[in-house]
Amino acid sequence: MEYNFDTPINRRGTQSVKWNVGETELPMWIADMDFTSPPEVIQAVQQRAQHGVFGYCAMPSAWSEALSGWWSRRYQFSIDPKTLLFCTGVVPAVSSVLRRLTCPGENVVLQTPAYNAFFPSITNNGRHVLENPLLYENGEYRLDFEDLERKLSDTQTTLLILCNPHNPTGKIWSREDLTQIGALCEKYHVIVLSDEIHCDLTDPGCRYVPFASVSETCRRMSVTCIAPTKTFNLAGLQSAAVMVSDEGLRNRIRAGLQTDGITGLNAFAADATIAAYTHGDAWLDALRTYIYKNKTAVRTFLSENLPQIHLIPSQATYLLWLDCSALPGDKTKLSAFLREKTGLFVSAGSAYGSPDFLRMNIACPRCILDDGLARLKSGIDIFIKENQ
Ligand SMILES: Cc1ncc(COP(=O)(O)O)c(C=O)c1O
Repeated sequence: MEYNFDTPINRRGTQSVKWNVGETELPMWIADMDFTSPPEVIQAVQQRAQHGVFGYCAMPSAWSEALSGWWSRRYQFSIDPKTLLFCTGVVPAVSSVLRRLTCPGENVVLQTPAYNAFFPSITNNGRHVLENPLLYENGEYRLDFEDLERKLSDTQTTLLILCNPHNPTGKIWSREDLTQIGALCEKYHVIVLSDEIHCDLTDPGCRYVPFASVSETCRRMSVTCIAPTKTFNLAGLQSAAVMVSDEGLRNRIRAGLQTDGITGLNAFAADATIAAYTHGDAWLDALRTYIYKNKTAVRTFLSENLPQIHLIPSQATYLLWLDCSALPGDKTKLSAFLREKTGLFVSAGSAYGSPDFLRMNIACPRCILDDGLARLKSGIDIFIKENQ
């Protein structure tokens, strides 16, 4: 089946957070896509709406079976359906897990730059962010295991948030990386909370490794957050899962999610999730190819028109991480400057801990991407002129 990712869809006036911007502005910031969901998902939601009764909902067993089938089919990883807990989102799940598994004042290790919402999840709960900065050498990122060991060996450190694949760099952590993380966390009795929400959005030919699949140890000592929301563009339906193999940990986390009131199922979430994980393979693979072509187009455009900006090589996500450090002037103001001068709205790197960077969401039709790149070029040209 052919899927059309090329035709722009007007999202204004649909309560879209992303598109709640001025008439002439172009949003390429928050992580959702300007594409419709797979046809089978739309159909499942329509059928549910057609029923017309939207009372309290309970999760059917088909939900955990659909998730388990997806991971088995795509990643050869066997998930026991009983280890899956439903939650309305990954961010609320992360906060809830933090509250259940750590105490106020303890350290939570974060590999920075990091997804912006992790910071307040930790600090608003009275825990301390202990950064394990990624090493950035020759324009590429890698893990700093020496520093990681130092941070994990602090007796106040009780949890590590792993982002796999990593937002904002788009890195897929290798099996060797994950094995080493697992060994260190086991040595220092630190639980790993692995946020794998971006796992399906890999470049064609690239595949992520679930942290829990690496070894029996990793499975036992980890809590994994997964969701159909990035993959199939369902963030507004609020559907996520927390996978916990260890029964004791699972019981504590289940109680936490319930206490925090984040287990309520909206009337559309189950049907949409089941349809996505049951019928979404072909659509997802077509999407991955489309996003990869967009990424290639950005790389070519930058090298031909804006060689001062370095696109970080990545294997996953539709979020591009742009190193703007070679530009003159104060880059903390660059995102706001671009928005003001050209209407292009990309995320400021400072939100992730790297003020010299920008994050650009390229999950959009090619014509929108081209518009964004033209705005980027004209904005950067003015920025350079004004800072020379
Ligand atoms: C790494 C990561 N985790 C979680 C989320 C948000 O998850 P949710 O909408 O399920 O709260 C995002 C969204 O961008 C993300 O990038």
